[in-house]
Amino acid sequence: MKRLLILISSTGFLFQAGIHVNAQSNTDKQEVRIVINSDLGKEVINKHIYGHFSEHLGHCIYEGYWVGEESGIPNTRGIRDDIVDALKESSIPNLRWPGGCFADEYHWMDGIGPRDQRPKMINTHWGGVTEDNSFGTHEFLDLCELLNTEPYICGNVGSGTVEEMSKWVEYINFDGVSPMADLRRTNGRENSWGLTYWGVGNENWGCGGRMRPEFYADQYRRFATYCRNYGDNRLRKIAGGSHDDNYNWTEVMMKEIPLNMMWGLSLHYYMTEWGNKGSATEFEEDEYFRTMKMAVNFGSLLDGHIRVMDKYDPRNRVALVVDEWGTWWNVEPGTNPGFLYQQNTMRDAFVAALSLNHFNDRCKRIKMANIAQTVNVLQAMILTDEERMILTPTYHVFEMYKVHQDATMLPLDLDSDLEYKHGDNKLSAISASASRDAEGAIHVSLVNIDPEQATDVSIDIRGGDVSEVNGRILTAGELNAHNSFDEPESVKPEPFKAARLSKQNLSFRLPAKSIVVLEIK
Ligand code: AHR
Repeated sequence: MKRLLILISSTGFLFQAGIHVNAQSNTDKQEVRIVINSDLGKEVINKHIYGHFSEHLGHCIYEGYWVGEESGIPNTRGIRDDIVDALKESSIPNLRWPGGCFADEYHWMDGIGPRDQRPKMINTHWGGVTEDNSFGTHEFLDLCELLNTEPYICGNVGSGTVEEMSKWVEYINFDGVSPMADLRRTNGRENSWGLTYWGVGNENWGCGGRMRPEFYADQYRRFATYCRNYGDNRLRKIAGGSHDDNYNWTEVMMKEIPLNMMWGLSLHYYMTEWGNKGSATEFEEDEYFRTMKMAVNFGSLLDGHIRVMDKYDPRNRVALVVDEWGTWWNVEPGTNPGFLYQQNTMRDAFVAALSLNHFNDRCKRIKMANIAQTVNVLQAMILTDEERMILTPTYHVFEMYKVHQDATMLPLDLDSDLEYKHGDNKLSAISASASRDAEGAIHVSLVNIDPEQATDVSIDIRGGDVSEVNGRILTAGELNAHNSFDEPESVKPEPFKAARLSKQNLSFRLPAKSIVVLEIK
């Protein structure tokens, strides 16, 4: 049946078993119709939705960003130039650090001062390896300056003290005379960094201290009290949040923490089957379908947490911060199981594209999100092998979608019966999101997760004249297509020239398993 429909739409008519079928009437059911009101948007898609997360885990920091000043790999003050260039190209808006689980056993004072005198520690969560603390506060904030991105630091609640966290904020943000500001100057940094985003612990229901929500809520109130604002700088404090569909944690935080004490409340969601994660590259369609189901249903899961927040915060003062999300597969064969190094295929690209569309559409509440993790860990943008690096399909999605950053979200009406059917199961095949940027250009990101079925798409643009359309597409022959060090450009965006503009209507055929971003002016 699928093949029949494809033939119909490509030939216009099909002559089969003596029946003359009017192709148009048959394809009508298949068509995806979208209406965009270009003059109606109200909410801005906060650029921080496109944020990243990088932990002291495996080769994310060490060998990922940090190679040291003596390295033969081109670097600036020890930070790899190629990584910085690539992430800048994708307009990385913020970077969360140092964890993750690592954050709740990190003692920041071990990571300042002369590098050769910094104490070493065991990274108990991630492979039991020695952490020599050569990448600490100064190096991280230097990295953020090179990237032109906002730092987001997650402080230690699980094994740290209120005093330690309070002093860290003072060290980073205070410009006057004080023990911590003086110590910073001794370590070579005259001016404060003016950091804004501050996390008060991570996964405190789990690796961050195994706390009950009521206990953590009290801890949050206590720790957050001593994270002071200095000068004009206002900290945006983020409470350690829930995971998956644990709505109770969200409920307790919203109930027990005064709304004016938190800028945001976090949420973590990994699209994986714990206990049966499977290979990043060797998978059957069954597994692909199950992952797509999680990614499609991520929207409902977000809505569940948003409903709880709406109940306590109808004026939308507290942001939902999805500060860890992404895929989690088995590590690549032969690599350290504690390093979470995985390849990245078109399947990961679909997870990214669907998730970013979900975040865009819920930008009234979701103000920040951080994919886990930027380099060499989990759903990475970049993989490195000594001096070589490759960009993953997920990187390309972020780079293509950067046009949505700080643009006004345009509500769209998506009318589609198109289903991706697998066995007895089915999912909506199409996802779309639209925005209008400061110059008035409209961007539409479209995803077709169906591995076989292309579809005709018609987009009506209302509320303004348009005369030009351009686009790019990310697709590949196979769902497990990926880039490797030998073939670094197997998957990359290509120009998409199929869209035809006629007055206010755009029409084109959206290929199977594809991600398309259109620019309409
Ligand atoms: O991203 C890997 C780990 O996943 C993080 O350290 C932790 O917060 C989460 O459980």
